[in-house]
Amino acid sequence: MAALVLFGGGGDLAMRMLLPSLYFLDHEGRLADDLKIIGAARSDETAAEYIAKVRATCESKARAENAWDEASWARMAARLDYLAVDATSADSLKALKDKTGDCPVTSFLAVSPSLYSRIVTAMKAAGLAEAGDRVVLEKPVGRDLDSFLEIDDAVGHAFSEPQVFRIDHYLGKETVQNLIALRFGNTVFEPLWNAQNIDHVQITIGETVGVGDRWPYYDEYGALRDMLQNHMLQLLCLVAMEPPSDLDADSVRNEKVKVLRSLRRITYEEADRVTVRGQYVGGIVEGETVESYEAERGQPTDTETFVAIRADIDNWRWAGVPFFMRTGKRLPEKRTEIVIQFKPLPHSIFDYEDGEPQANRMIIALQPEEDISLTIMNKKAGLDARMQLQPIKMSLSWGFRDRNDTPPRRRIAYERLLLDALAGDSTLFVRRDEAEQAWKWVDEVSEAWADVKQTPQDYVAGTWGPDGSDMLLARTGRAWNTTDA
Ligand code: BG6
Repeated sequence: MAALVLFGGGGDLAMRMLLPSLYFLDHEGRLADDLKIIGAARSDETAAEYIAKVRATCESKARAENAWDEASWARMAARLDYLAVDATSADSLKALKDKTGDCPVTSFLAVSPSLYSRIVTAMKAAGLAEAGDRVVLEKPVGRDLDSFLEIDDAVGHAFSEPQVFRIDHYLGKETVQNLIALRFGNTVFEPLWNAQNIDHVQITIGETVGVGDRWPYYDEYGALRDMLQNHMLQLLCLVAMEPPSDLDADSVRNEKVKVLRSLRRITYEEADRVTVRGQYVGGIVEGETVESYEAERGQPTDTETFVAIRADIDNWRWAGVPFFMRTGKRLPEKRTEIVIQFKPLPHSIFDYEDGEPQANRMIIALQPEEDISLTIMNKKAGLDARMQLQPIKMSLSWGFRDRNDTPPRRRIAYERLLLDALAGDSTLFVRRDEAEQAWKWVDEVSEAWADVKQTPQDYVAGTWGPDGSDMLLARTGRAWNTTDA
């Protein structure tokens, strides 16, 4: 037998993501027969009450995907159990240890990170941090390097590094893994993947949602810490890293750390030129009138809900190639993409349909659709006296579709990550030194902001951030991608 314990088992993350992910995995026969899933939380409810709530969330998600069936549910329900615990108390956790006995336990901490240190200490004392046990940590672990180290040190006293699984759910997304496949499963791209051929890279994570009632957390963090420190830097690492010698956890993560170490420090002299902070004011998003962040927060605040940064990677492969990153709330669309912009032709001998040659561009789109596409120039059919070229976009993602030409179900990113954590594979999890380097770089950015007193510029909800974001690229003769993948 093995056990998966969900601390915070009745909370938002568990109910919206983790338990439905587990249902889908079970439905596909991917969970070991003897795996027990135990929800552990403060609320005093019976296992039957808990299981009824889990059923409701799994059923609604699975029906939406045509994946609900009673037999799968019966299998999942038989695994489920619930225990009311105070996870910060070793005494209370002894009851959990009694339930799991000697079997290996994977504990997922889906609770406020402010409790992590106390929980892992209590787990250790209760015998839930033995050699075969693992712990999975949701972000954010810390708010800066110091607080990260403080929490992580407590984790490190209870568990050894191979037992710790720091989640970045972006790494569980199918297209993010496909980026690894594209780069290292083909020979055609890798020789071009460098400063000789690539002009710049753009990473955009645009969201239409606002901060709403998440402000108590968000106001402390802002877009830099909430999105850029983790998801965006992880994407940057996967684009920029050297080919690892193997797909095992250490080979991949060693390469990612090297990229983080090569990020050029952003000093206060540079901050205004290479970074932009924004905060949304009222506007219209997807046809709805929405209020400003300050109205949601209820008082003036200088937390950024938008950030754009030019990052430079100081190594041979990427010298002189800017990586532009932007992310924000209340933008016009939910759009997550990585744009690899190749260099322009050195010399053109053609006419062009719209007068301009277009340089090749690869778009790795994660949202709203998952796709990888490559724009190339092609001859326009016809007998024009001079050959005319036009851009065509080739999708490189036909393999994403099944035989009936329908795309497979879009998985919840946690499905892959839960399965890997249960199998002890930490390739898609963040190692301590990676998180440390990412915090270090991000801390320097926020210190530079404090030094130059850079406050967020307003942007109207429903637009692509403050003007400064367009200026960041325009100053270098470039522009954010506006075409669809
Ligand atoms: C989370 C952030 O990590 O990622 C949220 O805390 C954000 O603020 C979310 O909305 C975005 O995730 P996704 O998968 O919807 O792009």
